[in-house]
Amino acid sequence: MEYVADLLAVIAAPTATDKAALLERCQPPVDGATWELPPLPARPGRPAGWRESDIAPRRRRTLSHAGTRNRFLLAIHHIELSAVDLAVLACLRASGAPAALHEDFLAIARDEARHARLLEDLLAARGLAPGDEPVHHRLWDTALACADLGEHLVAVPRFLEARGLDVSAELLPRLAQLDPAAHAVLTVIYHDEIGHVASGSRWHRWWCARQGVDGEIHFQAVVARRFPGQVPGPTPLDRPGRLQAGFTALDLAWLAEGPEIAPRG
Ligand SMILES: [Fe+2]
Ligand SMILES: [Fe+2]
Repeated sequence: MEYVADLLAVIAAPTATDKAALLERCQPPVDGATWELPPLPARPGRPAGWRESDIAPRRRRTLSHAGTRNRFLLAIHHIELSAVDLAVLACLRASGAPAALHEDFLAIARDEARHARLLEDLLAARGLAPGDEPVHHRLWDTALACADLGEHLVAVPRFLEARGLDVSAELLPRLAQLDPAAHAVLTVIYHDEIGHVASGSRWHRWWCARQGVDGEIHFQAVVARRFPGQVPGPTPLDRPGRLQAGFTALDLAWLAEGPEIAPRG
């Protein structure tokens, strides 16, 4: 199927510019079109010569030094580049879904490529380029491990991207003074990401309704299985952003207090 081949080509493409160009060619399938999930690559495409690290990145609490900030921006760049691959993987897993789901996730993939390119411009102005630091593929590995679209929608938009909202909400006020150029780019990204998480919440509700499962219980079960020991997280919840993005009061209570399944009342 041409759509499946086009999606795999986006994942295999090395740069945000290449991925964006190929995304222009991806036409969403008609409502309910089905296909077999193809074999997925162990690694998404990246430029030749990039080094891969398996060392967990340190959490950077202070960004007052330019060098630390630049490494942080390089790390965010790779998160955005990986997010293109993850949004396309959601499309690959969405055999049988409405065309509107594909339109939403292709739009997210295009946003992520734009985010990566905004960061590339910001880094270039500082004499830096993606690939200057080793990259890791934990996001891809986590997404690849998901069993189905429902798990993917929990793990990627509703857990990982939503954590990005928490980090941004905490960081942006501090960054405004320290680094106005980075603040401007990360503010654009933050607002777009609320939309991505909202799409994730909307399609997760759709998926749960179709499967006949409770969305809040499914969310908790997948997070507990895929991210053991990570609830509550290290950063305070961005409640305003998460509420806008479709989290319920029970979701937020569980994320703040977890990991036991919260009683339903
Ligand atoms: Fe993004
Ligand atoms: Fe995103």
